[in-house]
Amino acid sequence: MRLLAKQHDLFIGTAADPGYLQNDSAASQLLAREFNMLVPEVAMKWEIIHPEPERYDFSRGDALVTFARQHGMAVRGHVLVWDLQMPAWVTNGQFTRQEWMQILCTHIKSVVSHYRGQIYAWDVVNEAVNQDGTLRNTFWMNKLGPEHIAMAFQWAREADPNAKLFYNDNGGEGLNPKSQGIYALVQGLQQTGVPIDGVGMQMHTSLGGAPPAIELSANMQRLAELGLEIHITEMDVRLQYSTSDNETKLAQQADIYQQVLSVCLSVHNCKAFLTWGLTDRYSWIPGFTGKPDAPLLYDKDGVPKPAYFAIVKLLANQ
Ligand code: G3I
Repeated sequence: MRLLAKQHDLFIGTAADPGYLQNDSAASQLLAREFNMLVPEVAMKWEIIHPEPERYDFSRGDALVTFARQHGMAVRGHVLVWDLQMPAWVTNGQFTRQEWMQILCTHIKSVVSHYRGQIYAWDVVNEAVNQDGTLRNTFWMNKLGPEHIAMAFQWAREADPNAKLFYNDNGGEGLNPKSQGIYALVQGLQQTGVPIDGVGMQMHTSLGGAPPAIELSANMQRLAELGLEIHITEMDVRLQYSTSDNETKLAQQADIYQQVLSVCLSVHNCKAFLTWGLTDRYSWIPGFTGKPDAPLLYDKDGVPKPAYFAIVKLLANQ
């Protein structure tokens, strides 16, 4: 898959965790053989990487970056500004506005400079927009107001001028109030000279829940026309809400993966396609929904599913 992706000048990637790279050699071989990009699923989140005010722990992020370098893979950095997986010293902290600004600035600059030159693109701000297109009342919105978004991009650029800087979100892939809000946000950032290079579309979806291809294409196209790069950053396709038989579900899942990739290949600025987990064994979905599922390209044993073959076929024939 990774060789075929290279012919399209496409990064094909997945979320990874150092835990399974150490303990599951079949998984790490699969990762290196099939993908040319990885993104840490949790290893670079604030709670892990900056657990105390004066202490950073880069060990897990470093393990992934080293693995990627050893195997000629690019890395997406994830994530600098988000309100989940934050350490208690931040969530319970009592600081002035000035101090909060200093805390966010120091965090972004320390993490981005640690990985300077090794990250293809950073998710600088994640999930800051509501379904209705307005800005969410996130932790950082609350502490610093909407200007924290521009500041975050600026600080990230200062710390690594060569990393591409992304806004990343879920549910704004098709045409709807949310994607309209994201479009307005990133266009506004550009117009005021904020250094933003791309938009990540997470694409956590399900059978029957994927955005229509025509809408996805139109949305990607309008972002591409702003000169922005587009990545599908966290794709998975849940099966659990369907009552069809397993074979039908897997075929429908394959169609959805193929359709999304096909749109990406048709938009010249869509440069990366990543799933959120290597195999069904490592998906976050069963833990999150409390129900078994199989949302990825490989089953629990790393055996390729119809979705994998659909992607390979598309890459080989286009
Ligand atoms: O590692 C600890 C473990 O030591 C501890 O015993 C256990 C008890 O709760 O928690 C473990 O950490 C969990 C971590 O995943 C590691 O798997 C966290 O509780 C849990 O909150 C965390 O969930 C992650 C979630 O983001 C929050 O960071 C998911 O794995 C991860 O898939 C999910 O990914 C997000 C993207 O970053 C952004 N887009 C949406 C996507 C899905 O929610």
